[in-house]
Amino acid sequence: MYQVDVWLHVLMASVWVGGLLYTGMIVVPFTAGFAPEERRQIMRGLARRFRWIGWGALTLAVLTGIAGLALRLSTVRMGQLLNGEAFDPDKMNASVVAWLPWKLFLVASMVLLMLLHDVLSLRAAQSLQVSCGSDPRSRIGTIAASMATLVALAVLYVSVRLAHG
Ligand code: HEM
Repeated sequence: MYQVDVWLHVLMASVWVGGLLYTGMIVVPFTAGFAPEERRQIMRGLARRFRWIGWGALTLAVLTGIAGLALRLSTVRMGQLLNGEAFDPDKMNASVVAWLPWKLFLVASMVLLMLLHDVLSLRAAQSLQVSCGSDPRSRIGTIAASMATLVALAVLYVSVRLAHG
């Protein structure tokens, strides 16, 4: 059960981080050479496809991550996260105490940044439908997605430290 949970967790993390990296390293540079309208269509089509797969994968990564905490040899239960015992060095494994707060903080920051990106992109796309010709790219949204991608890399590092010390 524990092994299946970790396998699913790493698989879902790969889908999410892989999608972010593929977009930043392949899709964005590739579409830069296209005419604005064509670029818009490609980006919007790909974003629409990835939205459910990406958010679905991230949701499952969070759920399997929480389950993994409880299934590990040094278990951390939901109640201990809420009452603060999970961060107490006398009661918890040292790597959990050192790295779990970072992991939770970074995952929450990544989720907020990507939510900001999605909300701003959807708004920009809607405003384009109302006033034809304006650029649907939101500068703040683009910065938020780039920051989320960097934070995702930090999540991976912190994950390794959490699991292996
Ligand atoms: C609140 C959400 C999360 C929690 C509570 C959580 C918890 C955990 C735990 C306990 C492990 C260690 C599994 C073990 O070996 O026993 C782990 C490993 C891992 N997590 Fe998460 N996780 C969460 C979200 C994420 C996210 C969003 C990502 C990726 C973007 C991620 C990526 C990984 C990876 C790659 C590993 C494997 C590290 C290794 O074995 O070296 N996790 N996570």
